Amino acid sequence: MTLSHIKVHHFRNIEYAQLHLSHHFNFVIGDNGSGKTSLLEAIYMLGHGRSFRHIQSNRIIQHEQPELVLFSKIESANQQSRSIGLAKTRNNDNTIKIDGDEGYRLTDLAKLLPIQLITPEGFDLLTGGPKYRRAFIDWGCFHHYPEFVFLWHNLKRLFKQRNALLKQSNSYNQMLPWDKELAPIAEKISKFREDYTQHIFPEIVQTSQDFLPEYQLNCSYYQGWEYGLNYAEILHKQYERDKLINYTTLGPHKADIKLRIDNIPVEDLLSRGQLKLLMCALRLSQGEYYTKQTAQSCIYLIDDFASELDLEKRGLLAKRLKSAHSQVFITAVSQDQITHMIDENDKIFYIKSGIIS
Ligand SMILES: Nc1ncnc2c1ncn2[C@@H]1O[C@H](COP(=O)(O)OP(=O)(O)OP(=O)(O)O)[C@@H](O)[C@H]1O
Ligand SMILES: [Mg+2]
Repeated sequence: MTLSHIKVHHFRNIEYAQLHLSHHFNFVIGDNGSGKTSLLEAIYMLGHGRSFRHIQSNRIIQHEQPELVLFSKIESANQQSRSIGLAKTRNNDNTIKIDGDEGYRLTDLAKLLPIQLITPEGFDLLTGGPKYRRAFIDWGCFHHYPEFVFLWHNLKRLFKQRNALLKQSNSYNQMLPWDKELAPIAEKISKFREDYTQHIFPEIVQTSQDFLPEYQLNCSYYQGWEYGLNYAEILHKQYERDKLINYTTLGPHKADIKLRIDNIPVEDLLSRGQLKLLMCALRLSQGEYYTKQTAQSCIYLIDDFASELDLEKRGLLAKRLKSAHSQVFITAVSQDQITHMIDENDKIFYIKSGIIS
């Protein structure tokens, strides 16, 4: 997928912008506070219905304005073109339009616009809690297994109900009907995640070899409860403990991936620049695997490309991104940070106080 053009209306400090985009690299150059991240945020919002910086639309809609509006034309690998629009009000109400028709959901946008985001805050993927890594695996499951999103929503609902019921129940028999419904869904979710990680881990190891050849990365998946035991048994066994805290302690909501080098967690071993490269390795591997499986490309949003990376590592990352043949958006505070990457089909946008030229 690529965006051929985009319109951004009342989004942070961007009052209005209409951009004709390159299907290759789009560089966005501007000073601090000029609106570079905001532009990436707008593209991300088109593919997710929400920002990567704030949940509240209030923060994102331009001051004094009632709503923000985004519009874009996207093209798929077979040259099919579709238009997508998203309007968001201060109450967080979304109107989504695809090819002029309303009634679509956020998941429809997410299916149409697979995006990989790399930001300076993205270190969370490696140094933050398991929820960031679960989001990484679930991105893959969402795009590779059509059933996944339906199961995931069901599971979330059932866990909420189970946790509420834990408070009121006097014996496990009262929980049993719930757990009978919940356990097979949890097992299925876990199977999808396991299957996905089995495919993506070798890709991640290979890419990290290219980026950090001095280290041998080891990846493993934890499903959220002990292997070899079925989840219904776990729920039964844990009931008394769960009841004490009104919370289901084990399950797919505790899943994680562990990334280690010489048995040391990567966040305890690698430098900031090395962590950034590893984060990029994960995102790129995921995007490239998606392309291999679907013959469609991902869109890469890379905020503050140069931060933490020396010249050689920037070159390495740039080369890899170029070979992914995808649409890439890169922000930088000055052009000399990206000069070595510019090719004839690329575009450079200059942004100043929210005005893009
Ligand atoms: N809701 C809003 N309405 C209007 N302006 C806003 C709103 N939210 C943020 N801004 C302003 O938008 C500007 C652009 O912020 P942004 O984070 O996009 O800058 P940037 O170019 O990425 O800067 P940096 O190089 O420091 O990362 C900021 O100066 C901020 O004050
Ligand atoms: Mg920024």
